[in-house]
Amino acid sequence: MAVAKRTFDVVVVGAGGSGMRAALQLAQAGLKVAVLSKVFPTRSHTVAAQGGIAASLGNVNEDNWHWHMYDTVKGSDYLGDQDAIEFMCRAAPEVVYELEHFGMPFDRLESGKIYQRPFGGHMQEYGKNPVQRACAAADRTGHAMLHTLYQQNVKANTNFFIEWMALDLIRDETGDVLGVTALEIETGEVMMFAARATLFATGGAGRIFHSSTNAFINTGDGLGMAARAGIPLEDMEFFQFHPTGVYGAGVLITEGVRGEGGYLVNRHGERFMPKYAPNAKDLASRDVVSRAMTIEINEGRGCGPHNDHVMLKLDHLGEEVIKQRLPGIREIALKFAHVDPAKSPIPVVPTAHYMMGGIPTNYHGQVVAPYKTGPDEVVNGLYAAGECACVSVHGANRLGCNSLLDLLVFGREAARQIIEDLKSNPHLKPLPPDAAERPLSRLSRLDSQKNGERVAEVGEAMRRTMQKHCGVFRFPDLLKEGVEEIVAVAERVAHTEIQDKSRVFNTARIEALELDNLIEVAKATMIAADARKESRGAHAREDYPGRDDENWLKHSLFFSEGNRLDYKPVRLKPLSVDSFPPKARVY
Ligand code: FUM
Repeated sequence: MAVAKRTFDVVVVGAGGSGMRAALQLAQAGLKVAVLSKVFPTRSHTVAAQGGIAASLGNVNEDNWHWHMYDTVKGSDYLGDQDAIEFMCRAAPEVVYELEHFGMPFDRLESGKIYQRPFGGHMQEYGKNPVQRACAAADRTGHAMLHTLYQQNVKANTNFFIEWMALDLIRDETGDVLGVTALEIETGEVMMFAARATLFATGGAGRIFHSSTNAFINTGDGLGMAARAGIPLEDMEFFQFHPTGVYGAGVLITEGVRGEGGYLVNRHGERFMPKYAPNAKDLASRDVVSRAMTIEINEGRGCGPHNDHVMLKLDHLGEEVIKQRLPGIREIALKFAHVDPAKSPIPVVPTAHYMMGGIPTNYHGQVVAPYKTGPDEVVNGLYAAGECACVSVHGANRLGCNSLLDLLVFGREAARQIIEDLKSNPHLKPLPPDAAERPLSRLSRLDSQKNGERVAEVGEAMRRTMQKHCGVFRFPDLLKEGVEEIVAVAERVAHTEIQDKSRVFNTARIEALELDNLIEVAKATMIAADARKESRGAHAREDYPGRDDENWLKHSLFFSEGNRLDYKPVRLKPLSVDSFPPKARVY
């Protein structure tokens, strides 16, 4: 089958915060940029980010980038690479002011400066007192940011390919990346997007779990493509559970609620966080709060007829503050929990939220993997930024509001690096003759499969397995069984069938193609979790309750072929300051 080809300088896969920040920089530099997105750009999942962007502007109280760096290293449970963390925290004020100048409608203080609110794990003076560091546009910061970036991209003539799904990487026989194949969702047409640089900005994969704050589009597409192309996935065992997803619905209730003074209570109406985190209380980091909630529930102090959730109380903030600072939360509470938060508490449970792992990159956005001559080499032509990348700035646990920051800093930096790299790479290499073979054979298998299982059923088996076997607390027997089950589910994914092919739309194919990606992420998460014999950040094992720096202060690398793991050292040395050595982590 002949497959059409279009050629660009750069193809960006994904139109969330990092993809659009990068595309803007690239288009402004005069490069011909294609952005592929499964959805209209302003519907990308960044739109759901609520609480804010972390930056030490010091608009409300004293702050500086070094305190921010300390909090991020500590939040990561010392698994974050300190060179990358320094780079991000130092750049934070600049990227926020840039965004302000692009037209971002931040909330304002009386002084006219950007409004900042407290958030979990954000402290002054190396962990002493909470600081107001999260730059916010009410509780719709991601929404405001995405619209701002989209408008700027339209002005800069970025080429958007809307409702296109990237299928697979195009690599030549040397391993260099020469673009991607993609499918137009409406027509089913497959096209090759040839480019001198390919940037993955495909976001997260929360849909491996049954209960998630993530959009249905968050299916780990970049990770699936990377894994199928032989690139390892880093630190996949670390998946963050956000403390406050609406009970039963999973929809996010921003940590900003606790930043504005809300707090969690158990079935006795007791505020329990001071017991677990005497200093930071409800503003401890997310892994700590999620574990505390789970202990309260497991020990019989959960709320409701099944004792299976806790309550987030914010009525004492008053209707005025709720309407002004948390209008989206009010709407979500009314619609999904059927409560008016100015009168009653919101029922909440920890809910799968953010993938700390991803495609291994350095802090310039270049993908680093075993390649031509060594185990840790820059892959020519391939870049990744945002949640799909593991830089690693979040280590074993991400701090709230460092996600939008990561998108801006590393979206911009990846673009800068691409512009630099393309100066010495002026001509696109010819595509190999089999460039579209892998996606075409995946599609033809789907269309010809007989007596296969339904995609929805196999997807459900994957989500149930992940939810039961790889949650907030991890148990040895459940992990072991989980590995067997997820490997068996992966086998089933390879034999799924699209029922009643004469009547389906391409959305059925999209769902099947997405499951190919999700299963790579699910396998990596379960297998790496089973292998890591310690507790660190979001990875809490019942049988190994302590952190073990002697044996496990290292990043994992999961290779899909053979379901194999390898490890590499953490970069403890920052760029210009002294390292923060690992120590006990208390809040
Ligand atoms: O709680 C929130 O608003 C989420 C923010 C984040 O994940 O960074």
